[in-house]
Amino acid sequence: ISAAAKADGSRSGSIVAPPVIKDVEKIDVNPPKGTRDFPPDDMRLRNWLFNHFKEVSRLFGYEEIDFPVLETEALFIRKAGEEIRDQLYCFEDRGNRRVALRPELTPSLARLVIQKGKSVSLPLKWFAVGQCWRYERMTRGRRREHYQWNMDIIGVPEVTAEAELISSIVTFFKRVGITASDVGFKVSSRKVLQELLIKYGVPEDLFGRVCIIIDKIEKIPIDEIKKELGFTGISEDDIEQLLKVLSVKSLDDLEDTLGGAGEAIADLRNLFSLAEKFGYSEWIQFDASVVRGLAYYTGIVFEGFDRKGKLRAICGGGRYDRLLSTYGGDDIPACGFGFGDAVIVELLKENGLLPELRQEVENIVCALDKDLQGAAATVATALRDKGQTVDLVLESKPLKWVFKRASRVNARRLVLVGKTEWEDGLVSVKVLSSGEQFQVKVNELE
Ligand code: HAM
Repeated sequence: ISAAAKADGSRSGSIVAPPVIKDVEKIDVNPPKGTRDFPPDDMRLRNWLFNHFKEVSRLFGYEEIDFPVLETEALFIRKAGEEIRDQLYCFEDRGNRRVALRPELTPSLARLVIQKGKSVSLPLKWFAVGQCWRYERMTRGRRREHYQWNMDIIGVPEVTAEAELISSIVTFFKRVGITASDVGFKVSSRKVLQELLIKYGVPEDLFGRVCIIIDKIEKIPIDEIKKELGFTGISEDDIEQLLKVLSVKSLDDLEDTLGGAGEAIADLRNLFSLAEKFGYSEWIQFDASVVRGLAYYTGIVFEGFDRKGKLRAICGGGRYDRLLSTYGGDDIPACGFGFGDAVIVELLKENGLLPELRQEVENIVCALDKDLQGAAATVATALRDKGQTVDLVLESKPLKWVFKRASRVNARRLVLVGKTEWEDGLVSVKVLSSGEQFQVKVNELE
């Protein structure tokens, strides 16, 4: 046997060396914890969802963008103590650079806007659908990788921007059958907090940190929150007052509690009035407790929630007018939102709104004889050239098998290539829904 294998690896004669049996270690066939495969059924649902995201964005005149999933780690490091920082998938690449899988798209957007500088004219209305990675504790609708639909407006300081962004999310909900009785938006402004903190003498650079602490109110015991707020230098009395303000649920009450209408209240009133004009008043409500967990928001913030209260936030966003300067760029007013692909699927499931999506092809083409496989390929090409979808049967199979497959792939018609017809340039067509059968010239197949 050894003589049979030449030095160059080729083999001579009829003696074949036995295969080398390696120690095979079985791999775990599941994807890493918290991540997903997308076999065809799941991929159809994903495409359906993403198409809605994209069509809504286009309806509003936004342009699609994308960024690398891998970014430099520094892009995501902010000092405010955000949860997202501890969830970062980060490592050193082979060139000793610190890199990270993006946990969100907004920092990449800011990077791109700075990079484009004056070469782009404002306002920018951009959208993206991209995969994000966060090492999360897994709960329903929360995973370690998710896709996020983002729409952002760069260069508009007015509340009209936030109002339009919420309108686009409402448009999406309506398209997929979700109503204002299923879902709502809680809206507030970080300027409420900002006004209070100035009153309490808290330094401006601690603003982001305070917001992050307050965002945890529903997640950790209130005594913990008070303790953490105490570390930022706010007095006990002021903490009590702050927590009282955060429980306010109407703008009039907020105005009373704050002792007058400031910028925050003016913005919010403006937003509510625009909501009426856009036609989604019944979807939004004021809730002072919404501050959001990312440090960079500076003004209006909002979150989409399910009214049954079973799921985590469906989407969230807000104004971030000062993010660009944290990367060394000139600040430009900006706002946007992120909308994940996981919670919405749970909600659609809950409400019986998941679409039934089956594979569909217009034609299944099959040769009745092995010798006619080339002819069947010609027929398939002719149909595909006309833009018709074709599942071509690539093996010699009995008709019974072909019919079964036709029903599985949901084919509209079966095109059979048989010897005698083919000699006359014809094929047999069977319309599978009606059973109608006819013969037709290949070039007349429509
Ligand atoms: P975020 O609230 O961290 O905001 O995420 C936005 C949305 O992404 C969430 O409401 C949720 O739908 C989805 N999401 C986040 N983490 C997960 C997860 N682990 N599993 C499943 N879905 C998740 C941001 O990321 C901001 N960058 C949004 C933004 C864009 N603000 C302005 N522009």
